[in-house]
This record gives sequence, structure tokens and C-alpha cells, in this order.
Amino acid sequence: MTSSPTPDRPTPDRDAPEQARLDFTRRLSYGDYLHLDTLLSAHQPVTGAHDEHLFITVHHVSELWLSLVVRELRAAMDQLAAGITDAPLKGLTRVVRAQEQLTAAWEVLKTMTPADYLQFRGAFGEASGFQSAGYRMVEVLLGNRNPTLLKPHAHRPDLHGPLEAALHAPSVYDLTLRLLAARGLPLPAEVLERDLTRPHEAHPAVLDAWLTVYRDPERYWDLYELAEKLLDVEDNFRAWRFNHLTTVERTIGFKRGSGGTSGAGYLRRALDVVLFPELWEVRTHL
Ligand code: HEM
Repeated sequence: MTSSPTPDRPTPDRDAPEQARLDFTRRLSYGDYLHLDTLLSAHQPVTGAHDEHLFITVHHVSELWLSLVVRELRAAMDQLAAGITDAPLKGLTRVVRAQEQLTAAWEVLKTMTPADYLQFRGAFGEASGFQSAGYRMVEVLLGNRNPTLLKPHAHRPDLHGPLEAALHAPSVYDLTLRLLAARGLPLPAEVLERDLTRPHEAHPAVLDAWLTVYRDPERYWDLYELAEKLLDVEDNFRAWRFNHLTTVERTIGFKRGSGGTSGAGYLRRALDVVLFPELWEVRTHL
């Protein structure tokens, strides 16, 4: 004989939504914890154009990912500065994944046509991603250094101060090269004590050091893995830049940028930037 639930004591449905916490009068809710009112209130289209919402969303999301990239890069760099080579791989892997999200965002933005864009282009005047402090910080930490690019933040000491400090501190590549030297791979003072406010320039001694690592990966496994991870970061950075340029060309063609540069021409030149030159060059000599 089978037993059936008694009408006065039904079997509780453990998976029903009624089992969830439903009263947040005095409890911290999801929206409270994430300050969603504040986050979403930053979304303020100036025109009624449908696609301005998309444009703002993609910029906001990108800035959030950039802020995560900065945080993870800084943590990885602190570990490198302390002579640790394995732990930074975790943070750098997270950077690589976040970069993939940044690049994927172009696919959403590319659904906007030039006509859609022109409906709200007048709303933001001379504002441009060129003035993104988050993006500049990523570039400075990675070693693409040019004091001119910090000038748009001169009127904001809270943004300019950290950028200026980072400009005078070693980049992730400088810290990596110091680790090579600490491991006994000979690197000259002109590499280790270079002018940090300029980009690193390719140097034969650095190439030789990486050749030693790449010819004997088992002996230098941690440095080898670190180098390949840095290459992933630069590879993804290039992909973001290239997709930005393509999005710009299909949206505004060859018009000047809102930030005052030549537009596509300026962005095309940035494709020539090489952050870790010897890591690309070393392959040629293996
Ligand atoms: C249709 C959308 C977009 C257009 C037409 C556009 C256009 C441009 C142009 C022309 C420049 C060159 C600087 C100038 O303004 O003169 C630029 C720079 C920049 N844009 Fe965009 N952009 C778009 C979307 C985005 C998005 C979604 C981001 C995400 C954060 C972004 C980030 C940047 C950054 C960081 C720079 C500086 C690049 C550098 O100096 O190397 N842009 N953009």
C-alpha cells in the first residue's frame, strides 16, 4: 500500500521560490549590497536617441572591466616586486579573461549604424575615450608610457596623481626583467635603470636573456610561463585596439575624433605599439 501526504501536513517543496528570503525591510538586499541605485543612476542619456543607451552601457561596462584589470595588474605587480613568479599568473590570467570581455563588447556596439550614432553624437561634445583614466592606467602599468597622454587629467589630482606615480614606477615588464636579472641572467644597467617615463626599448641583452629562458623552459619554467602570460596580455590588448579601430571606421569613417585627434589615423598608429618587444622577437631566433 502506498502512503500519500496528509492534507493537513503537505510535504514542503524545498525547491519552491517561497523558500527564499522574501522580506528585505530590515535586511541587506542584493541591490543594497551592490549599490545598484547608484550604479544605474549613472546611466543618463542626454538625447532621446535609442542607441545612446547602448553607447553609454558599453562604455560603463568597459570602464568596470578596466578598473578590474588595473586592480589585478597592480596585485600581480606587487607579487613580482616581491620576487614571486607563480602567484602573479593567477591575476594575469584574470586580466586576460577580462580583456576578452572588453573585446567582446565591440560586437554589441557594432550593431549601431553611423545614422544611429549621429542621432546623439552632438550630446557629448569633446568627450572621448582618449580621456579614460582607467585605460591610461592600464597602458602605463603595462609600459606604454607618454606623459602627454596624462595631460587631460591635470585638472583632476585624484586621477592625475596615481597616473603620475605609476609613470615613475616600474611597469609589469620592468619588474619581470628585474626578476630575470635576479635569476642571474645578465642585464645591463641601461635596461634595469632606464627612464621609466618612456616606453621600454628593445635591447639585445634582454633578447639574449629570454633566449636562455626559451631554450631551457624546464629550468626556467616559472619565468617561461610568466613570459607567455604577458604575451597573452599583449595579444589581447592588440585585439581590443584593432576592434576599436574597426568599430570607429565603420561608425565615423575618417572624421576627426571627438577628443581632437585625427581619429582612425591616430588609432591605426597605436596598433604599432609593442609592449614586450623581445617576447615577440625571441620566437624568430628559436
Ligand atoms: C562608436 C563608438 C566609438 C567611437 C566612434 C570611438 C572613437 C574614438 C576615436 C576617434 C578615438 C581617438 C581619440 C579622439 O577622440 O580623437 C578614440 C579613442 C579612444 N576610445 Fe573610442 N570610440 C568609440 C567607442 C569606445 C568605447 C566603447 C571605448 C571603451 C572604453 C572607447 C575607448 C577609447 C579609448 C581608451 C581611446 C584612447 C585610445 C588611445 O589613446 O590609444 N571607445 N575613440
